[in-house]
Order: sequence, then C-alpha cells, then structure tokens
Amino acid sequence: MIIAPSVLTADLAALGNACQEAVSAGLDWLHLDVMDGNFVPNLTFGPPVIKQLRKHLGEGPVFDAHLMIENAETMYQDYIDAGCNHLTVHVEAVTHLHRLLHAIREAGAGAGVVLNPATPVDIALEVLPDVDLVLIMSVNPGFGGQSFIPTVEAKIRKLRKAIDEQVAAGGREVQLQIDGGVKTHNIAMLQEWGVTNAVVGSGLFNDRGSVADNLTMLHEALNV
Ligand code: DX5
Ligand code: ZN
Repeated sequence: MIIAPSVLTADLAALGNACQEAVSAGLDWLHLDVMDGNFVPNLTFGPPVIKQLRKHLGEGPVFDAHLMIENAETMYQDYIDAGCNHLTVHVEAVTHLHRLLHAIREAGAGAGVVLNPATPVDIALEVLPDVDLVLIMSVNPGFGGQSFIPTVEAKIRKLRKAIDEQVAAGGREVQLQIDGGVKTHNIAMLQEWGVTNAVVGSGLFNDRGSVADNLTMLHEALNV
C-alpha cells in the first residue's frame, strides 16, 4: 500500500520543508490538495506554488494533484507544466470527464477520477478503462482532520472487484486511492477492503510527533 502524505495539514508557511520531511521519511508520493475556494470552501495553492515545490524537491517525488477546482478542463496543462505527475479530477466539477481524462493522459500525466462521499461509484466504473487511479473520498472535501465516513466501504469493494476484473481481462491496472480520516486505527481495514493508496494528512502532520514517528505507527498498524 502506498501511503500518500497530504500536505494540507502541514506547516503551509514552510511547505517545502514539510514536503522534504515527508520525502526524507521515505514517502515519495506526495498528495497535493489544490483547492480553489469555489468547488470547496477552502483555498490552498496552485501551479505557481507547485512549480516551486518541484524545484525545491527535485524530480524524485511523485506529485499527485487532487484538483478540488472548478476549472480543471482549462487548467490541467498548467498543473502538468508545474511538475504534477498525476491529476485527479472531481466528477462533480467536470462537464466532459472522458475527454478530460484522455487529454491528461495524452499530455503525459496519470489521469485520476475522484468521487465525493455521496457520488455513486458507477460513474467511476464508466471510465475505469480510461484512468490510472480512482480516488474515493472518505470525508467531504475541503479540510483536513475530519472523521472517516465508513459508508464508503461498499464503493471501495465494488471498485476493487471491477479493477481486478479489468486487469484479469488484460486491461489497465488502476490504483484504488482513499482520502480523508485515514489513521492507524483504520488503515489495515482499508487495505483489507482493497485500497492500494491511502492519503494521510493529519495522521502524519500533527503536533504529536514527527512524520517519521507517525509513519512508523502506520506501518506497525499495517504490520510492515
Ligand atoms: C480534504 C483533502 C484530504 C485531507 C486529508 O479535502 O482532500 O487530502 O487533506 O487529511 P486527513 O488525513 O487529516 O483527513
Ligand atoms: Zn486530497
């Protein structure tokens, strides 16, 4: 299972150092929570900041941009040019999803689709052949430190089965990512559900310990 640190709950006044701390702890898949203050109430950062993070961190880490924005269809190339390796777009915020996913892949980035807690999983099944990643939100997007929504279990299990069937039929492998409220008490359960990539924000960036210490506890919970 990939543990993807969400930097949203890190010290955003020293974002480069926070990302470097995660990378130094061995976490090289960084989950960048891009919020525009329209699709979600909160506002974080965009391409100019991401471009500087890429300069600061070098080419090594994977930049996985979770685009909680209204204009992904017009801005996706800017995020790729800024250094993002994966772009995950909200089905609730995009008009022409299939076209956008293909455009992202043709531009050389990994294409992902993300569903809010109330969004039916069938939309993701419609584009499963067209994506590299499906993200299931286990909180309502916009903020870190929220409580996990357990009713997403059925969506995760249905997706797990569909991805396994797609791969067995010779189709593309798809990462099954979850985001929101992932902690030491539930991460092993999520792995059993079939999650392959877990975003962790406040479970890694908090005042209880360093990223490395918090990661050790997550690994212990996963018996790794
Ligand atoms: C919420 C973001 C999540 C969040 C995760 O809109 O997409 O990535 O930062 O933070 P925790 O792990 O604290 O719920
Ligand atoms: Zn996120």
